[in-house]
Amino acid sequence: METTLVLIKPGGVQRRMIGEITRRIEQRNLKIVGLKLLRAPRSTVEEHYAEHRERPFFGSVVDYLTSGPIVAIAVQGDNAVKAIRAMMGATNPLEAAPGTIRGDFALTIDDNLTHSSSDPGAAFRELSLWFPEGILA
Ligand code: CDP
Ligand code: MG
Repeated sequence: METTLVLIKPGGVQRRMIGEITRRIEQRNLKIVGLKLLRAPRSTVEEHYAEHRERPFFGSVVDYLTSGPIVAIAVQGDNAVKAIRAMMGATNPLEAAPGTIRGDFALTIDDNLTHSSSDPGAAFRELSLWFPEGILA
């Protein structure tokens, strides 16, 4: 059993996609064990994307994630990390398969609607960052 992090980015919240995305997660028989709507502090987003600190898009992705409310979701289930990554689709929506969130609803890499943890180590680190209070069993 694994637990992973999904963030619905500001564009996804503005486009009223909270229901669509949580519906797909639950339809897959994954369990939501943490869920909140928040305005992310800049420092939290910078820590979240620390691996990208030297990349040219770092400033713009941090600006984007702090531009409006986001939803943080802790998702649990068998192979949840890989299952959720596959559900969200490739980083560039133009390369994301139809049937994925990004392939169905996004067009540009800077507004690709969701984040999901890339591997179990990242998931553990990110869940501690976004849910310091802990999550439900
Ligand atoms: O989100 P994911 O793990 O699929 O991609 P990433 O390579 O870890 O990049 C993190 C986020 O930075 C992406 O989801 C995009 O929102 C943003 N990004 C961007 O705006 N332009 C790029 N060339 C690469 C990433
Ligand atoms: Mg990533």
